[in-house]
Amino acid sequence: VRTAAVIPAAGRGVRLGPGAPKALRALNGTPMLVHAVRAMAASRAVSLVVVVAPSDGAAEVRRLLDTYPLAGTVADKTEVLVVPGGETRQESVRLGLVALPDDITVVLVHDAARPLVPVDVVDTVAAVVRGGAPAVVPALPLADTVKQVEPRTGGEPEPVVGTPERAKLRAVQTPQGFDRATLVEAHERIALEGEGATDDAGMVERMGRSVVVVLGHEEAFKVTRPLDMVLAEAVLARRRA
Ligand code: CTP
Ligand code: MG
Repeated sequence: VRTAAVIPAAGRGVRLGPGAPKALRALNGTPMLVHAVRAMAASRAVSLVVVVAPSDGAAEVRRLLDTYPLAGTVADKTEVLVVPGGETRQESVRLGLVALPDDITVVLVHDAARPLVPVDVVDTVAAVVRGGAPAVVPALPLADTVKQVEPRTGGEPEPVVGTPERAKLRAVQTPQGFDRATLVEAHERIALEGEGATDDAGMVERMGRSVVVVLGHEEAFKVTRPLDMVLAEAVLARRRA
């Protein structure tokens, strides 16, 4: 079994505010993407990382990755490819999948925007896929109760439709792990149906294939808004202490 990690990193980071593409912004001096590549390379299971760069920034990302060694990781066995991405996350992941060599049978898809995922989560996801599950998602129980609403614009009060039982909900993270053929088929079908999806496992579910959840980690949170940068830098500082 050969396992690759595809890292979609082609987003702008609009919710983070003006500046460089999100994946290229620094956390304690090191670009978020470099942290994410190291997190994947740190897993013994991962022998190839495919970085999906902003469509006009693949050369810049290649140069950037060459200036940061995969220090403290099992870098000697990890190859890093860079390919240009697309307009949506789904399209970026698809372009990453197209770049995989034939001998890859297990694929992890990991957001560059989750730079601090611990290696144990990566190892667990990869191991459960290698054990025969077609799709595996790390996730955590929710702290907040969730309401389903009828969405309104402009800050108007929104009618509540229902309250799903919190104990049965999970907030999903990445890396999500897949049998390669299953994930490729899911992307092909979704492209035909023309429907978007916010996560890769959701597309596999729609095909009627089984998806399982394993325990994620608090530090695998997604850097989305400015406050998340503060939290990420604090986590890094604590790791060094
Ligand atoms: N992504 C991508 N290609 C896109 C859009 C998103 O590869 N066209 C990637 C992002 O780089 C990120 C991951 O998908 O690593 C999750 O997306 P998100 O957190 O939404 O990042 P952005 O789309 O960059 O942020 P925003 O939605 O705030 O613009
Ligand atoms: Mg986005």
